[in-house]
Amino acid sequence: MNDKIQVISKYALQEQEMQALNDAAMAAKQVLESGSGAGNDFLGWLHLPSSITGQDMEAMEKSAAILRGHCEYVICIGIGGSYLGAKAVIDALSDHFAAYKTGNGPKVLFAGSNIGEDYLYDLMDLVRGHKFGIIVISKSGTTTEPAIAFRLFKEMLEKQEGKEFAKHNIIAITDARRGALRGLATQEGYATYVIPDNVGGRFSVLTPVGLLPIAVAGFDIRALVAGAVEMEKDGDEQVLGYAIARNALYQQGKKIEILANFTPRLHFLAEWWKQLYGESEGKGHKGIFPASVDFTTDLHSMGQMIQDGERTIFETVLSVGDQQHEVIIPTDEEDLDGLNYIAGKNVDYVNKMAELGTRLAHVDGGVPNLLITIPAVTERFIGQLIYFFEKACGVSGYMLGVNPFDQPGVEAYKKNMFALLEKPGYEEASKAIREKLNN
Ligand code: PA5
Repeated sequence: MNDKIQVISKYALQEQEMQALNDAAMAAKQVLESGSGAGNDFLGWLHLPSSITGQDMEAMEKSAAILRGHCEYVICIGIGGSYLGAKAVIDALSDHFAAYKTGNGPKVLFAGSNIGEDYLYDLMDLVRGHKFGIIVISKSGTTTEPAIAFRLFKEMLEKQEGKEFAKHNIIAITDARRGALRGLATQEGYATYVIPDNVGGRFSVLTPVGLLPIAVAGFDIRALVAGAVEMEKDGDEQVLGYAIARNALYQQGKKIEILANFTPRLHFLAEWWKQLYGESEGKGHKGIFPASVDFTTDLHSMGQMIQDGERTIFETVLSVGDQQHEVIIPTDEEDLDGLNYIAGKNVDYVNKMAELGTRLAHVDGGVPNLLITIPAVTERFIGQLIYFFEKACGVSGYMLGVNPFDQPGVEAYKKNMFALLEKPGYEEASKAIREKLNN
């Protein structure tokens, strides 16, 4: 088995096309590593994996053990960068049907990543009367979606178990000093973990934001971080390969990157990737639009568009070497379904042929294809993948000429929502938006 992720661009670009952007990529990497570029106060993630200590791990493992010991459910409350990393890693490593199986430790569920009234109702209905704990995560400590969810579940937990139990089963992960959540945690006496000032939400999965929920779900955070350290120390070849390829394709008019997987457990990894690249690069009316598909499922829905729609896309296939389990297709004497030609093969062999066939078909259809391979879906290789995507994102953003570490655009909807909700302080904006709606 390989021991590292690989990036292969042979079905996307000629060697000379890659070479043409080499200097630009090296310059962008230098700007990133020297901290001399835009957004350089948000580079805390760059050397984060190697700076996590055994003590840090131990503290999180202890907190996780407490929640695992006391709770049937742990509700992780957060949105965006305070949600997607943990969700991606937990989904990638979990049994697909863990929710329906009685297992070891609590079920980790998520809230605060939407404002769905029925979603919240159903989740409250599920945990009512059961032992549950809460991990509430918000860097700013003021985000509306998680604040609503936390108010609801905090009240429920306190009514159900009393303030004392609640206090010991709520952990807040937030800024060291600022924000409503910090104030609330101090007043109520919750255990807290700090999100470093210099790590933005979408780069925070290897801080307690991701690591604590992942540990609560029962996964090995030391192996995850060790994988990230491997890429921090020795991943530049892969980082540059990916950053160069996607910028070269963008310059050729490929404005949309589709991240495709053939591994159902990676669905949320792609959701995390979309936030990482979308929020980092979509600025100044520039940027590759990050999209994702789950194959072979979406070959039966989006396949036509990819094969034959407008030629503005390229595809990056995230390919997994080994599955965790083997399922062999049985022989059937009558062969009424005509499947005996693949009898005796394991299911993943068929999936791999679908993957190769799809890549070749899409290349023939004018969709350049990048391939990222990971040896298996384990803590170590997911850790590698996380750091690889993060660093490639920094390099790629600088190559594109944007600040990859801010997100001014995400405030626009909030301003309108607060104006419509008549939040104190938004009186002028409320008036203006009402007038706009009436005209
Ligand atoms: O990447 C980002 O900065 C955002 O997606 C945030 O993570 C998201 O809005 C949640 O913010 P907060 O952690 O402050 O509640």
